[in-house]
Amino acid sequence: MNKPIRKAVLPVAGLGTRFLPATKAVPKEMLTIVDRPIIQYVVDEARAAGIEHIVFVTGRNKHVIEDHFDMAYELEDTLRARNKAAALELLEKHRPQPGSTSFTRQQAPLGLGHAIWCSRDIIGDEPFAILLPDVIIKSKVSCLRQMVDLYEKTGGNIIAVEEVPDDQTHQYGIVELAEQINDKSSRISNMVEKPAPGTAPSNLMITGRYILQPEIFDLLSSQGQGAGGEIQLTDSMISLMSNQSFSSLKFEGRSYDCGNKPGFLSANIAFGMDDPALAQELVPFMQEMLQHPVAAE
Ligand code: G1P
Repeated sequence: MNKPIRKAVLPVAGLGTRFLPATKAVPKEMLTIVDRPIIQYVVDEARAAGIEHIVFVTGRNKHVIEDHFDMAYELEDTLRARNKAAALELLEKHRPQPGSTSFTRQQAPLGLGHAIWCSRDIIGDEPFAILLPDVIIKSKVSCLRQMVDLYEKTGGNIIAVEEVPDDQTHQYGIVELAEQINDKSSRISNMVEKPAPGTAPSNLMITGRYILQPEIFDLLSSQGQGAGGEIQLTDSMISLMSNQSFSSLKFEGRSYDCGNKPGFLSANIAFGMDDPALAQELVPFMQEMLQHPVAAE
C-alpha cells in the first residue's frame, strides 16, 4: 500500500522580472487569468487531487498570496449584508480550510531545489506533490489527480511530461524514457536540466508537476549548484533515481507557461473561451484581429 499524497509544495518566491512593471508591487502568481489569479488555478488543481495541506514557499513582497487564501472578513460581511449569495459562495469555494496552508520563506533566491528544501520540516517523512505555479493546466481531470491515480498503482516518484519542439528543449528539464508502463506512462531512465541546444535526450519536458518521496530532502540538503548556477531539483532527482523508481505521465490536458507573455496571454484566451458569454464576444473580436490587426486598435 503506497502512502497517500496529502501535502503539496508551491514554490512562489520568484521575482517575476519578465512581467515588470506589473510585478513591481504585485507577485507574478497574482496576475489574473480571466477572473482568478494564476495561483488560484494551481491551488484548485491540488485540491481536486485530494491534497489536504498546501505549503507555499514564499519570499519578500508575497504576503498578498497569504491574504488571498484567508477569509476577507470585511468584504464577506458586506456581501452578506447585500445578499450577494453567489459572490460569497464563490469566495468560499476557492478558500482552503483554516489550518490547511503553511507559509515559509526561501530567504535567498538559490534555485528551485533550494525552495523545495525549505519545505522539509512541514512535509516531514511522507511522499508529497510539487506544483510549479508558473504553469497552469487546462484539463477535464486535474493533472495532479491523474498523477495520483498513476502513483496509486506504481508508487515511487512521478513526473508529468509533455512534448516540446526541439528548439525549446534547452529551456526546460528533459527526461529520457525506458520501458513503457502503459500508453501514457514509462519508466524514466535519465533527466537533464536545461540541456545545451542539440544535446537533449528527447523532446519530453518536465511540466512542473511532481510526486516525490521524502528522501529527496536529504539529497537537496547537499545539492551543489547546477544549470544557471542554481540549486536544481532535477539534479537531486537524478541522484534519487539510483535507488528509487521514477515514472513519467503524459497527462491529458494542455499546459500554459504563464511565466512568459505568450503563455500568459494564451491562457487568458483559452480559459476565457470556457465561458460561453465571454466566448460569444471573444470569437468575433479575434476574427477581426486576425483579418485587420491594426484596424482593431
Ligand atoms: C523549472 C524546472 C524544469 C521544468 C520547468 C517547467 O525550470 O527546473 O525542469 O521543466 O520548471 O516550467 P524553471 O522554469 O524554473 O527555469
